[in-house]
Amino acid sequence: MPSQNNETKQSSNDKNTQSPNLQISKSPNRPIALTGIKPTGTCHIGNYFGAIQPALELTQDYDARYFIADYHALNIIKNPETIREYTYEVAATWLACGLDPDKTLVYRQSQVPETFDLSTILMAFTSKGLMNRAHAYKAMVQSNEEMGHDPDDGVNMGLFTYPVLMAADILLFDSDVVPVGQDQAQHLEMTIDIAQSFNFNYGKELLTIPQPLIRKETKTVIGLDGRKMSKSYGNTIPMFLPTKKLRKLIMKIVTNSQTIEESKDPEVCNIFAIYKLFADAAQQDALRKRYLAGGMGWGDAKQTLFEIIEAHITPIRERYEQIIADKTYIDQVLREGSVKAREIAARKISFLKKEIGM
Ligand code: TRP
Repeated sequence: MPSQNNETKQSSNDKNTQSPNLQISKSPNRPIALTGIKPTGTCHIGNYFGAIQPALELTQDYDARYFIADYHALNIIKNPETIREYTYEVAATWLACGLDPDKTLVYRQSQVPETFDLSTILMAFTSKGLMNRAHAYKAMVQSNEEMGHDPDDGVNMGLFTYPVLMAADILLFDSDVVPVGQDQAQHLEMTIDIAQSFNFNYGKELLTIPQPLIRKETKTVIGLDGRKMSKSYGNTIPMFLPTKKLRKLIMKIVTNSQTIEESKDPEVCNIFAIYKLFADAAQQDALRKRYLAGGMGWGDAKQTLFEIIEAHITPIRERYEQIIADKTYIDQVLREGSVKAREIAARKISFLKKEIGM
C-alpha cells in the first residue's frame, strides 16, 4: 500500500492543480510512482516486456514520474557522444511505446540539480558500512581480490555512493512506489534505511518512505540461446531492428535437433517461450497444436515467431523512427519535463533545508 500523503506531498500536489503549466497530476490524490532508466544501451524486447510495459500500465493508476538517470550512467559511460545517443534512444523508445509526456512527468536527472542537494544531505545520514554492503561495489571488490588486484581497482566514488544518489532521486519526489527489477531490490532497501535514519533524527516523517514494487519475473524473457535475455549474455533481440535483420536474428534461435515429423514439446522450446509474450491465448493454442501434431520444422516455427514480432513491433518502430529523427522534439520533451520536475523538487528542497536548519 502507498504510504499516507504527508504535508509536503499535499503541497506539491496543490501546486499541480493551481499552476496552469503543471497539469501533470490529473488527480491530486493518486499515489506517486517513480522510476529511473539508465541510458546505458539499446532497448531489447526483454526491457520492453520486463520494464517498459509494466511501467506504462502503472501510469493509469499512479501519478508517474519516469526519468533518465544519466548521472548514474556516467559511472560507466565516459564518452559524451555515447551517453547523448543512449539518452535519445531511451527517450525515443519510451515515447514510441506510448509514454505520454502530458500525463507522465518525463525528465532528465542531470537537469534537476535539486537531486544533488538532496544527495549531499543524505550523505550525512548514510553510513559507509551500508555502502560497503552494496552488491555492485562488493562484486567489484571481490573480482579484484580474485585477480590479485588492489580491492578498490576501478571503483570510483560514483559507483560507491550510487545508492545515495538513487535514494535522492526517489525521496526528492515523495515517491510512494518504485517499480524496479529484482536487481534493484537492495538499492530500494538502502533508500528506505537512509530515509528512516533521516526521519528518526528529526522525529518526523520529512521523507516519504517508498514501497518497492519489485517486478515478479513471471515474464522472464528468454533470449536467443534459452538463457534469460540480457545484454551481458549477448542473446538479446533489440527492439527496433530493421525487418531483414530481425528475421535473420530470429532464425538464430537455438533449438534441439528433432526432425520435422516429430511431435515437439512447446513448453521446453525457446521459440515458443518468446512467442507467448506476443501472442494471445488463441494464437498460443494454435501454435501449441502445431508443435504437438508433428510435421512442423523449426524453420517454420521461427517464421511464425518472426511474423508475430514484426506485426507487433512495426507500428512502434515507425513511431520510434519518427521520434529519433527529431532530436529537437526529444530535447523539448525532456526540457519541459525537467522544468516541471524542478518546480516540485525545489519546493521539497526548500522545505527540507528549513527543517534541517539551513
Ligand atoms: N539503478 C537503476 C538501474 O540501474 C536506475 C535508477 C536510478 C533508478 N535512479 C533510480 C530506479 C530511482 C528507480 C528509482 O536500473
